[in-house]
Amino acid sequence: MLPEVLIVGAGMIVHDQLLPSLYHMQRQGRIGAISICAQHGRSLQALRAAADLAEAFPDQSFRGFPETGDPDRAQPDLFREAIARMPPRQIVVVAVPDQLHFDVIMAALAADQHVCTVKPLVLKHAQAAQIADEAWRRGLAVGVEYHKRFDDRSLMARRKYRDGLFGEFRLGTACLLEKWYYRASNFQNWMTTEYSDAFTYIGCHYVDLVHFITGLLPKAVSVYGIPERFPNGSEGFLWTDARVIWNNGACLNVQNALGFPDAAPGTNTQGLTMYCKGETDGALIAHSDQYRGLKYCYTRKGPAAGSTLYAEPSPDYFQYVDLGSGGLVPVGYGYRSVEYLIQSCLRVETEGGDLAGRQRILRQIDEAGVMATPRNSSYNERVIEAGRESILNGGKPVELG
Ligand SMILES: NC(=O)c1ccc[n+]([C@@H]2O[C@H](COP(=O)([O-])OP(=O)(O)OC[C@H]3O[C@@H](n4cnc5c(N)ncnc54)[C@H](O)[C@@H]3O)[C@@H](O)[C@H]2O)c1
Repeated sequence: MLPEVLIVGAGMIVHDQLLPSLYHMQRQGRIGAISICAQHGRSLQALRAAADLAEAFPDQSFRGFPETGDPDRAQPDLFREAIARMPPRQIVVVAVPDQLHFDVIMAALAADQHVCTVKPLVLKHAQAAQIADEAWRRGLAVGVEYHKRFDDRSLMARRKYRDGLFGEFRLGTACLLEKWYYRASNFQNWMTTEYSDAFTYIGCHYVDLVHFITGLLPKAVSVYGIPERFPNGSEGFLWTDARVIWNNGACLNVQNALGFPDAAPGTNTQGLTMYCKGETDGALIAHSDQYRGLKYCYTRKGPAAGSTLYAEPSPDYFQYVDLGSGGLVPVGYGYRSVEYLIQSCLRVETEGGDLAGRQRILRQIDEAGVMATPRNSSYNERVIEAGRESILNGGKPVELG
């Protein structure tokens, strides 16, 4: 029997990346039935009505929770029932707002399910440790979806850095600014000063990537945030500037915001520059992660939110291509990342067998360090925790625990 997959959450990332990737794996005969549990039925209706998903996967659908009833009635605990009805050792994909990840992941592990979760795993290091222990005790995989790891340029830089070709990282700068219109999205209901900030939400990608490339670990962080009002009146740190100090003394500056102009090309602006020290000369890694060499000027704006007439689309993150096979095929590192995580869960089952065998595979996955797991990537939770303490205290430097 092919393993079934339950997605908890039905928002932007499910529409843009998770569901199409899973549909494609289902089409390839690698996973079985797909279910989605949302807080409101209306989120499921929006997914069912999405024209791009229908065009790409004309013969596929998912089972929804809630399936009937008032689509505007909030059912925040329905995911517990949706998980409870699954046979053990299937896969739960977690795609709810950051502060809810822990509850959903623990409910899935308690029901003996493998887990793939969007980043960040959780917001507290102690919670990451608890998840790691519980998953290990039960022989279950937990993969954290940091899709930039599966961008070939990250894997190239990692291999060359670890071969010594870049010497040692000293100073770096990274940015990821989402467009202004994000402020009007569902983000205003959860990316508020109380729970999150622009660095916690998006900065973690580049902290993770610097570790992924270099193997270095962060040791201190300070985050300066500028609070502003969302359209609904909630307050969020919508502009942040972080400084991350690494265990070799290197320093990474990370700027994040929901503030890139709506009229600017591309869906955001982002990139990473790392200045390094060799024996007798400097070394450099510079990735423009937004501009990937394409310049398009259309005759009309596309239907997607934030579409512009002049665009610089990324062919590398997530696109649909027509390979003449009916429907459309998802390509890019967004797809490869989901595929790798799901495949790792499948591998634990097919190669692992009993508990000791599954733990042997889990150890291999942790040590390979390609898939982020609670054990091999919990430095991210230390950074988030210290970053939250810093931003709430005017940007004071905080040592990581
Ligand atoms: N680059 C990335 O890796 C990336 C990009 C976007 C989002 N994300 C992460 O994905 C998560 C979701 O982000 P999004 O952009 O899809 O947000 P969103 O606000 O568009 O969607 C959140 C979804 O969670 C659902 N939800 C909330 N509470 C729930 C509950 N109790 N039970 C079931 N469903 C519930 C909501 O109904 C909604 O469908 C966040 O953790 C975010 O950080 C990651």
